[in-house]
Amino acid sequence: MDVLNQVILHENSRVGPDLEAWLQVGGEGLQIALQDATVLIPLIKEAGLRGLGGSGFPTHYKWAAVAEQKHSNEKYLICNGNEDEPGTFKDRILLEETPNQLIEGAMIAAVALRINHIVFYINPDLEDAIANIQRAIKQWKVTELYFNVSTHLQQPLEFSVLPASGHYIGGEETAAIETVENKFPFPRSKPPYPAENGVHGCPTLINNIETLCHIPHIVKNGAKWYQDLGIGEACGTKIYSLSGDILSPGAYELPMGTSLDELINLYGGGMLLNKKFKAVFTGGPSNTILTPKDLDVPLDFDSVAARHSNLGTGAMIVISEGTGIVKRVAEYVGFFAHSSCGQCPSCKTGTYYIAMLLNKIDMGLGRRIDLDALIHLCEILPGSGRCPLINGAVKVLESSLYHFMGEYEQSLID
Ligand SMILES: Cc1cc2nc3c(=O)[nH]c(=O)nc-3n(C[C@H](O)[C@H](O)[C@H](O)COP(=O)(O)O)c2cc1C
Ligand code: SF4
Repeated sequence: MDVLNQVILHENSRVGPDLEAWLQVGGEGLQIALQDATVLIPLIKEAGLRGLGGSGFPTHYKWAAVAEQKHSNEKYLICNGNEDEPGTFKDRILLEETPNQLIEGAMIAAVALRINHIVFYINPDLEDAIANIQRAIKQWKVTELYFNVSTHLQQPLEFSVLPASGHYIGGEETAAIETVENKFPFPRSKPPYPAENGVHGCPTLINNIETLCHIPHIVKNGAKWYQDLGIGEACGTKIYSLSGDILSPGAYELPMGTSLDELINLYGGGMLLNKKFKAVFTGGPSNTILTPKDLDVPLDFDSVAARHSNLGTGAMIVISEGTGIVKRVAEYVGFFAHSSCGQCPSCKTGTYYIAMLLNKIDMGLGRRIDLDALIHLCEILPGSGRCPLINGAVKVLESSLYHFMGEYEQSLID
């Protein structure tokens, strides 16, 4: 069987915003969900679905946490399509090409958890995605299936499409809640968690676009079918956003657990200009770097974590021999510095300071004392912010120092 683009990126799923076309291949998952909503959370648990927005957190835990909230009749689902981290471009494709698959997944979540507000929260640059979701929603709202969902909820199911703020930090879950409340995307401190106290104090589920797209297929085909799509212990499929010095960059939906070597050399067509593989920034670049000795790593959450890295969003930015690590890391940390919301002084000043030192070293003006300062910042900054942005910025730096200290040292003037 061809393992490429098997499910959510399969050509059958990529039918655009026309609901009639989608209902030729989809819709069954939602019908099954409406027959017995109580089986849905155990099914998602058994399938082994994990959050594909970066955390890999088991989806059923979040669903159960929202389901058990009894303090409000109003519940929200935010479908997180903020997608703004360098190297990640999978959700754009899903939003543009399979909006009905996503809407069906979101409606199944609404049925399972008695959610009556679904917010499609989308990066404002993705104008086609926003238009397609809007077009698809209009069609759903006159279907019997939509009516049946509202009957099940005993109140109308409301859809809204919200262009996000255009800030990377707006993808963090509590920053997304702030945006939905019409405020600046400042992450909140946790607890309380969104499941308990989210949009306007109501229980709120936040799931990534890719996570939600899997739901109709799991409900239709069962947990075992989904588990078997993965390799070894890993379940399901994953979209890897492959970019950088690669012959065929693109978004590839492959079995979860496909090796890095296969992704680069088989699906990605190998290195550009036959150059040697030097490293890959995983997850977008807020994670650790993998190097040639990691080419055998199965790309699933646990196997990548066992190499002290993180699968994250599945973004893989490949670089070849000859690409300067210091310059690349300076660019990425510069992105995080620019994206810091500024609530935590250690994050705003720390990320800027790291970016400044990296640029200095990259320009050949760095001294040993600058390198020592970078090493010290890696020790004191993690965990000092309200959200994980600062940890991501430090992680990529720390990992580059670990693997490529020689390159840093060679650039120093003393
Ligand atoms: C700085 C930052 C940016 C994030 N951006 C996104 C994003 O664009 N899309 C997304 O789905 N999750 C993003 N996340 C993760 C979300 O906080 C959240 O974990 C995710 O939407 C949950 O969905 P999942 O469980 O389906 O993965 C971001 C997290 C951080 C810390
Ligand atoms: S860690 Fe950074 S991005 Fe996160 S809340 Fe604090 S200042 Fe904002």
